[in-house]
Order: sequence, then C-alpha cells, then structure tokens
Amino acid sequence: MDGVDMAMGQVEQKQRAVPPQENLTRIGATDFESYVKLGEILKDQLHEIFARFDSVPQKGMQVLDFGCGIGRVTFPVAETYGAKIFACDVDPTAIKYVQENSDRIEAFVSNYDPPLPFEDSTLDVVYANSVWTHFPQDAETMWLKEMRRITKPGARLFLSVAARETLKAHQARGLDDGVTLDLLEEKGFIFIENMAHDKNNPERWPGVTHEYGLTRHSHDYIRNTWSKYFRIVDIVEAGSGRQDVIVLENIK
Ligand SMILES: C[S@@+](CC[C@H](N)C(=O)[O-])C[C@H]1O[C@@H](n2cnc3c(N)ncnc32)[C@H](O)[C@@H]1O
Repeated sequence: MDGVDMAMGQVEQKQRAVPPQENLTRIGATDFESYVKLGEILKDQLHEIFARFDSVPQKGMQVLDFGCGIGRVTFPVAETYGAKIFACDVDPTAIKYVQENSDRIEAFVSNYDPPLPFEDSTLDVVYANSVWTHFPQDAETMWLKEMRRITKPGARLFLSVAARETLKAHQARGLDDGVTLDLLEEKGFIFIENMAHDKNNPERWPGVTHEYGLTRHSHDYIRNTWSKYFRIVDIVEAGSGRQDVIVLENIK
C-alpha cells in the first residue's frame, strides 16, 4: 500500500444540507448539485497535485483550507484524508454552514487581517482555492507572511491564482476588464476592484472589510515576489479549474 492509499478511504461521510442560495451565488454556483460536483472535481485536481509533489495529507498531519467559503473543496478533502482538517473564512455565514454539516472539519471565523490562531510552525499543508485571486497587494503580502509563520519548515502550500489560463478563459467568455496577456506580463500584478464586493452592501461578501476584486498574476511576478517568502516549487497551469496552482515550500 503506498502513501496515497494509506491516507485515504477511512473517513466518515455526513450528508450535507443545501446551503443558503446567497452562499452558493457568492462562489458562482447556480445550485447545490453544481457546487458539489465542482468541489469533487477541484478536490481530484488538488489530489493529483498533492500526489505529484509528495504532499498527500496523512493521518497525524495538520491541514488548513484558508478562505474555505462553504467548503466546496473542504468537504471532499475531509472525506478523503485522515489528516486533521482546519478551515477558516472571514464569512461567518459560510463557517456556520461548514460547522453544522461536518464533524470532521474544525472550521472557524477568522479576521480579515492576520494573525490566525495557530502557533508558529504548526501546519503541514495549506491550500487556498480562489482566495489570492481576490486580494489587493497589501493583503496578498500580509497573508503570505502569515502563511510562512504558521507552516512548518518543509511544509507545502498550494495557492491558486488567476494567470494566463484564467484570462484566456475570461476572454473566450467575452469578459473584458481591459487586461490583455501582454499587459499582464508587463505589470505582473493587476488588481481590479469589482462589483463582486459592494462596500455599500457589506453583506455581499460578509467579513471582507477591505477591497475585494479580481487579482491577476504573471508567473514572473510570482517567481520574483513570492520567492521572498517561500521556495517556489512549481506552478501548475490550470491546476484548479482555469486557475494556476502555485506550489510553495516553507524553507525558514
Ligand atoms: C471565491 S471564494 C472561494 C471559497 C472557497 N475557497 C471555494 O473554493 O469555494 C473566496 C473566499 O475567500 C474569503 N476571504 C476573503 N478574504 C479573506 C481573508 N482575509 N481571510 C480569510 N478568508 C477570506 C471570502 O470570504 C470567500 O469565502
């Protein structure tokens, strides 16, 4: 039996209730079925990347899903691995749903700013799906530093970003925010505050007290900037849907 088999298959599965429609809408899901189905697909993709980089969560390890929302990826992850699964988000409505629907996931509401309630060097694996895709630059930096603090030396992190593949997909769908592939390469980091967060209606993204928008990254930017905090192990293009997955290692 290899490490993958040993880590999997021994975890209880609890029936999930249908989340409130506004929570589904916030992550772009039209209904419960599509939310569950995409969550499984994203988990399978994540599993493939965990396996490729020798990071499949094992029993006894501590894993964090940062910015978990209503647990689209967290539930299938918790049903797959025997590791301890933490999940946090600034949205109390999303965390309430996760808490009410899983005995396996230790979910908690976090503040928009660090710190998280972990001692230094606690976590073995951190993943975040579609979170660094919305941060303005100051939030990006402060959360990379916090991730460095709370992860163990040698820990791996898997953070999705919107890069070229996402931009191509947006362009194919006719979404035009004025960003071209050339502009993205030139600027490296482009944050556009958008309608996804109406400051006059904080309920739209509960708990998000800063700007919220669409953040695009070039690979060069990631390699030059994120390497101040982590070793860049690899960048997996379209590793999470149309988003790229940045594989990082804590080398503190
Ligand atoms: C696009 S959703 C993705 C949710 C989830 N990861 C998924 O894939 O379904 C982005 C999430 O990031 C959360 N978020 C935004 N800023 C955050 C912060 N500073 N700390 C923790 N979560 C944050 C939002 O509340 C939201 O649930």
